Amino acid sequence: MPRSFTSNIRYAKRDELNTLQAIQPELNRAEAVCAVLIPIKKSAQWWEMAQDERRAIFEEESHHTATGLEYLPGVARRLLHCWDLGEPSDFLTWSEFAPEYTQVFDELLLRMRASKEWQYVWA
Ligand code: HEM
Repeated sequence: MPRSFTSNIRYAKRDELNTLQAIQPELNRAEAVCAVLIPIKKSAQWWEMAQDERRAIFEEESHHTATGLEYLPGVARRLLHCWDLGEPSDFLTWSEFAPEYTQVFDELLLRMRASKEWQYVWA
């Protein structure tokens, strides 16, 4: 298991944080017995970009947060960072949801994989 840590917010703006904080559920809900751990690695090209260029791809072009918000409060999540530690994965993403939400979660993954951001994610 790669080492990882929770970190500060990198991309979210104040209004996005307010919206997230208002509707995102806590981890460990009794009904959320399905959990998915997805390691993510992004390309050298991603990491070479400036912060504002990454933000533009992440949100303005790929709508990561706006899309993800559609799946709240069904999905509870945690983002862990590993890039700074030189681990094989750059991020570990953890999601929890109720079994009846499985197909909906798959739909979210398909939408994310089709986004411009995912062109920088290693398969
Ligand atoms: C369930 C709905 C989701 C919401 C509301 C959501 C929201 C967010 C937000 C707001 C950030 C930016 C955090 C920051 O500002 O530092 C973020 C980052 C990230 N999310 Fe999601 N997300 C969701 C689902 C997912 C899923 C399913 C995955 C993986 C397949 C994922 C992978 C990531 C990754 C890898 C990052 C870090 C991107 C980077 O720093 O380059 N997210 N997410």
